[in-house]
Amino acid sequence: MKKNFILILDFGSQYSYLIARRIREMGVYTDFLQSNVISLSKILSNKPNGIILSGGPLSVYDNSAMIINKDIFKLDIPIFGICYGMQLISHIFGGKVEKSKIKEYGKSHLIIDSYSKIFHGIQKKSIVWMSHFDEVTKIPKEFTIVGHTEYCAIAALVHTTKDIYAVQFHPEVKNTEFGRTILKNFVVRICKCSQNWVLDNFVKKSVHNIRKRVLKKQVILGLSGGLDSFVTAIIIHKAIGKSLNCLFIDTGLFLNKEKDRIFSLCKESNLPIKIIDARDRFLSKLTGISDPEKKRKIIGKEFISIFQEESEKIMDAEFLAQGTIYSDIIESSSKNGFSSIKSHHNVGGLPNKLMKLKLIEPLKKLFKDEVKKIGVQLGLPNEILKRHPFPGPGLGIRIIGKINKKKILILKKAEDILMQELIKNNLYNSVSQAFIVLLPIKSVGIMGDKRTYEYSAVLRVTHTEDFMTATVSHLSYNFLEKISNRIINEVDGINRMLYDITSKPPSTIEWE
Ligand code: XMP
Repeated sequence: MKKNFILILDFGSQYSYLIARRIREMGVYTDFLQSNVISLSKILSNKPNGIILSGGPLSVYDNSAMIINKDIFKLDIPIFGICYGMQLISHIFGGKVEKSKIKEYGKSHLIIDSYSKIFHGIQKKSIVWMSHFDEVTKIPKEFTIVGHTEYCAIAALVHTTKDIYAVQFHPEVKNTEFGRTILKNFVVRICKCSQNWVLDNFVKKSVHNIRKRVLKKQVILGLSGGLDSFVTAIIIHKAIGKSLNCLFIDTGLFLNKEKDRIFSLCKESNLPIKIIDARDRFLSKLTGISDPEKKRKIIGKEFISIFQEESEKIMDAEFLAQGTIYSDIIESSSKNGFSSIKSHHNVGGLPNKLMKLKLIEPLKKLFKDEVKKIGVQLGLPNEILKRHPFPGPGLGIRIIGKINKKKILILKKAEDILMQELIKNNLYNSVSQAFIVLLPIKSVGIMGDKRTYEYSAVLRVTHTEDFMTATVSHLSYNFLEKISNRIINEVDGINRMLYDITSKPPSTIEWE
């Protein structure tokens, strides 16, 4: 059977993951290869129907620029270069790339000069999203210019005889009016992919693969009560039944009543669960630590130590399963030497030396909304499907700076009030994630004629599809005031509330 697969060679653009999203939305499977590990044999072993060269932050003439082997263009596989990808194609074929006289960031108008296959069905003039400081100033011999913008004379190129296309703008960004059409033209018209990648077979295939890999061994899985780890547990349970050993490690950094909730959810789903009280252990390791990455690494290391200890108590325990999803990997990985954003404890925080167990991560290629679809297919209760995500390091990364028992209690109480009010006002399901962040800043207040000097806390409520980008939820002032009043009146230790109105990017959802 013909494989339908688009390979993205990722040169480090913040938009690369969006290319993957757009292609999967069309029903075609796609994945990345980091550009610093690209070899022709690796590309060929993936058998792609088409290759996309992503954007990236470097210039092709930098010493550290990531250049690909020219032979990739002899493979007879259609290629589409986006931004840096276009500059790279031009550079490799002998064109000229230079710093743009006018940098172009944001909205621009593409004028199509010639209708190539890549522009099928697109208006002659349309809005595109630009983000570049370099541009192609001289095209290689074998190419033709097919589009320009006001400030960029060479905004789109095609090879005269081969299926090689390139654009300076970003078709993957929603603001590019016909971006989806352009990507679809490449994927469906040019690469001839069938749009039949659906998640329907995902569970069946995963169950089959896990069964084949695990054989008669035992698997340990850390359940956090969130969607990702729960879906992972159900899939593995389908595959190996009693050989799955679920652990809930109580770090003391969960919301109130979390332990009981998880216990009853597992009971309903027939998942075997063991609860481990590690509250003192985590708190003592975190005492005195204020650096966010250090906290994340400590928490990750402690999780692994506990998994390791538990695995030694189980005969034939050989695997550790985790609910890692695509965004955890993208945001935790140091892309091509560029800095990672956060070490998600289930990815970047894992100390390799300590890891004797082999990893099973069935969801690691899925976006959050895709995991949700799988959860629906598996018949999971709404309580899990609609639950806001909760980070593995828990309240540890919502207490900014040093952590202690008192601060944990304060934050748990405040989060409790927030959840009650969201549910009471029918807002829980219309926002994507809501929580409180406890700041290490005290301020002066007045309550009952008495001076107070207590912590400030931040309400963070976001709206997002995939948690890779997010915007602030536009809650009413009445609601915000209600939350502020209740928290300040009912929680000893907080006397000032703030509302975080930043989007992601430039901020992230969690504060640490
Ligand atoms: P950020 O803060 O990176 O968060 O914008 C994106 C989403 O990921 C959650 N998050 C985590 N989830 N382990 C997890 O399982 C982690 O270490 C972690 N850090 C952040 C965050 O709550 C949001 O939903």
